[in-house]
Amino acid sequence: MEKLWGGRFEGVSEDWIDAFGASIPFDQKLASDDITGSLAHVKMLSKTGIVSEQDAATIISGLETLQAKLQKGELSFTIQNEDIHLNIEKLLHDEIGAVAGKLHTARSRNDQVATDMHLYLKRAVKDILKALKDLKLVLIQKAEEHVETIMPGYTHLQHAQPISFAHHLLAYYNMFSRDALRFEENLVRIDFSPLGAAALAGTTFPIDRQYSAELLGLKQVYENSLDAVSDRDYIIEFLSHSSILMMHLSRFCEELILWTSHEFQFILLTDAFSTGSSIMPQKKNPDMAELIRGKTGRVYGHLFSLLTVMKGLPLAYNKDFQEDKEGMFDTVETVSKCLAIFTGMIDTMKVNQQTMQKATEKDFSNATELADYLAKKGVPFREAHEIVGKLVLTCTKNGIFLQDIPLQDLREVSPLIEADIYDCLASKTAVKRRTSFGGTGFDPVFQAIQNAKKQESLFQHKS
Ligand code: ARG
Repeated sequence: MEKLWGGRFEGVSEDWIDAFGASIPFDQKLASDDITGSLAHVKMLSKTGIVSEQDAATIISGLETLQAKLQKGELSFTIQNEDIHLNIEKLLHDEIGAVAGKLHTARSRNDQVATDMHLYLKRAVKDILKALKDLKLVLIQKAEEHVETIMPGYTHLQHAQPISFAHHLLAYYNMFSRDALRFEENLVRIDFSPLGAAALAGTTFPIDRQYSAELLGLKQVYENSLDAVSDRDYIIEFLSHSSILMMHLSRFCEELILWTSHEFQFILLTDAFSTGSSIMPQKKNPDMAELIRGKTGRVYGHLFSLLTVMKGLPLAYNKDFQEDKEGMFDTVETVSKCLAIFTGMIDTMKVNQQTMQKATEKDFSNATELADYLAKKGVPFREAHEIVGKLVLTCTKNGIFLQDIPLQDLREVSPLIEADIYDCLASKTAVKRRTSFGGTGFDPVFQAIQNAKKQESLFQHKS
């Protein structure tokens, strides 16, 4: 088959070599954006008088026909036409004849592919932001239900101090809020038009880059033509933000997996998000959470892959850039699916409030309460720490907990201890009283929920 760039070539091509260079198997995802980019370009060519109005009208109607056919699944692409740009150009030629050839005036596939990627990623990031918002709303709702649900707070995965389950959920809310801010920031740099940079150096035609950018709904125009066709920073940023988001999802999944285990039994995932075993009839596995944790690896991989592809590339376009696509597409798909699954899983999980609270009752996570109690009565905290440490040691030897020690014995250790100590040692009291800013006390947690709701404009529709 004759190549669109075949003029300079004499030899015949070989299919297996062509196939190696082709990107159509994956860049057909850009078909719609490619047509959109071409429509903006030809309208600009017409406005500036580079192409006659009549020719432009023919090209526009041809492109619109292709867009309609694409939506109906009626376009088919061939590997002989290498990539999505040449495929669309060929299809346009089939549609309207030789005038199709005028579309590529003052343009190169280098600015064309960059334009397509900007358009694609802008839409994808906006969708991811919507999905993140859904997740944040579910977390706020769950937090509201669980302000007074007490659970063990951990450090080193050892019981540390009791906390409100809502506080735990809101910690993730804050992480996902930062993720959203990062993607918003990413959008600022995605919102640039490379169109009109042509191959690398701009063009001798009197093009209007602002106009085509405006038609594409892209806010700004790359100032430097070399940068315009060579920049993949915004994709690397996207992969990096996605990696951080996946890391957050993965940490939360790890906790869900622990919490569903027999040892914890803090939560129950609904059947829809669990799977059974082919041999062990009793099994209910948290597969979806595990899979999200697992898929984090591939997203990290895509980030490193593109960073590595880019690190040695001289300006401007190099074919290596073609390797920017699959990782980006896969990341968009992975992140979108993981967010949807994860949100559903959190939304439908059942929380075993009693089991959670119970786990804070027969442990030493109230040791700090006793130390604080003494410190408030004037004992230097270090000394109080030592006293309580010794009490804990004695308790472990006798198989009891701090709250099981009779008042008399406690007063022997320190006469400052009075009967009100037992209320202080109760985990619910311990949580409730942590009212410092950002702490797990019921009041600051309630306040944090109000702030989160304000942040998500949840009060706006109330009149
Ligand atoms: N398929 C190519 C890519 O994805 C399009 C740009 C080709 N440009 C070129 N000069 N060969 O990067």
